[in-house]
Amino acid sequence: MRRMDRALLALGFVACGATAASAVRAQAPAKPASAGQDQAITAALNDAYTKFKTLKEGKNADYIPALAKVDPNIFGIALVTTDGKVYTAGDIKSEVSIQSISKVFTMAKVMEEQGPEAIEKTIGVDATGMRFNSIVSVEFSLVNPGAIATTSMVKGATRDAVWNSILNFYSDFAGRKLSVDQEVFKSEAETNQRNQAIGALMYAYGYIKANPAQATDIYTEQCSVSVNAKDLALMAATLAAGGRNPATGKQVMQSKNVPYVLAVMATAGLYDDSGKWLYHTGLPAKSGVGGGIIAVAPGKFGIAVISPPLDDAGNSVRAQKAIRDIVARLNANPYAAGSVTSSR
Ligand code: DON
Repeated sequence: MRRMDRALLALGFVACGATAASAVRAQAPAKPASAGQDQAITAALNDAYTKFKTLKEGKNADYIPALAKVDPNIFGIALVTTDGKVYTAGDIKSEVSIQSISKVFTMAKVMEEQGPEAIEKTIGVDATGMRFNSIVSVEFSLVNPGAIATTSMVKGATRDAVWNSILNFYSDFAGRKLSVDQEVFKSEAETNQRNQAIGALMYAYGYIKANPAQATDIYTEQCSVSVNAKDLALMAATLAAGGRNPATGKQVMQSKNVPYVLAVMATAGLYDDSGKWLYHTGLPAKSGVGGGIIAVAPGKFGIAVISPPLDDAGNSVRAQKAIRDIVARLNANPYAAGSVTSSR
């Protein structure tokens, strides 16, 4: 076995006939990454960055005018392991709006407040196979109607109280105080008549109990939260680590709720291309029209890429390619025998 493969096996990354000893090792408390792991992960990120840096496919979202103005060349990759090691390549300073990736964390918040059954019973967890702004499918927390309804379920006596509790929750995942890109928020709020109509429809259907305009407005604000690749990777890594932020050590959400969040991401995280995504990576993921994608390798790492140009399904072209490449390189697909621990 090559030295790098051995190093990755210790993290449970490599499919090469894991032994009982490796199974025991992977269950033991996390140890600092070895030089071999560092090297292998760094090389995987750097190579993906180099490979896709010059790719010019896709186009920024422009139905939200402010997004059309974002630099399409931004390309940042970050991976954070569940023991808190951070690996990056490319531009990790530039920020984009989180957009639909926010839906995951607001849904997690509702699960924390009301239990996972509240999402299952009120919103529904069956895949829609629909585009993100479908009005055909009113259910599901990751498609706009379900997402706006999910935001309406967050507890709080006033708009401010609801908003602060959402933003603080996201910030705990990112390990720093996040803020809103006001230009994006204003731009989307002025042009989101479709989402306002969806909010009203969800109220008429009884999914939203009161004040649909407020729910849509808060939903729009949550989509405008500004993040860099490392923020997103830490948010994903917190999910990978059972709800405990590996950088701050804070238990941000209960570990028992995390599998429900990941299941919803696996089912529809990339909308009408979710099946294709799962087919190639096996990992729960979520995209946003700001150009970010997060993916979660449970127990191992969270990864995020930001790159604004999108494909027809509204998913970042370079982010999909880079994550797919890195996941294959690290043998992180949990459906591959031996990629997680095995006692064979
Ligand atoms: O509601 C919208 O249209 C946007 N704020 C979010 C859409 C989105 O990010 C879809 N993801 N790929």
